Amino acid sequence: MKIYLDSANLEDVSRALESGRIDGVTTNPSIIAREGRPFKACIEDILRMGPHLTVLAEVVSKSAAAMEAEARDLASLSAAIVIKLPCTAEGIAAARKLSGSGIRTTVTLVFSLNQAIAAACAGADFVAPFVGRLDDIDSDGIGLVRSIKETLVAHSMKTQVIAASVRSPFSVSRLFIAGADIVTLPYKLLGQMIQHPLTDQGMAAFERDWVKVPD
Ligand code: G3P
Repeated sequence: MKIYLDSANLEDVSRALESGRIDGVTTNPSIIAREGRPFKACIEDILRMGPHLTVLAEVVSKSAAAMEAEARDLASLSAAIVIKLPCTAEGIAAARKLSGSGIRTTVTLVFSLNQAIAAACAGADFVAPFVGRLDDIDSDGIGLVRSIKETLVAHSMKTQVIAASVRSPFSVSRLFIAGADIVTLPYKLLGQMIQHPLTDQGMAAFERDWVKVPD
């Protein structure tokens, strides 16, 4: 199991790195736009801050050929980069081209099992189902992750599942139960997933009792 941070905000990245709980950072065009800085500068800063991190960077071109060129340029920044490609016909064609050339790919914006199957058959290293956006339209995001994982395992596919668009601590644990290999989270959820009132009460009791221990 791995947890990634779903943010390009350098303060978030720094605090998440200090927590010692992330193995990667995921970005997309909307996440990058929030930072108001050039795309590559954002990615390079994240790579510098966490040399052990896997960093996902998304292409924005429309055609498979242009996506491939963009991917090769981004991948040249570091071996830690994984290229995100949209789950469109062009994106999947680009994933097929890149998968044979040592560049790791994630097919993103996945909302159905058939989309995940197409991405896996094209050789994508990861698929990223958007759980919260399915839940938003009264569909079963966690159920989709379970179906994708079961299907990939049944067919011995190498493709791993990165659950994305995750909105609650409840979803995080259920996504791992459902078989997600990686769950990517906004910074706030990193904290929320380990909060428990009984831990706080237990710590307060330990502190109260400790002062009674004689020197
Ligand atoms: O990882 C994908 C994520 O950034 C999208 O999240 O909340 O916009 O659906 P959201």
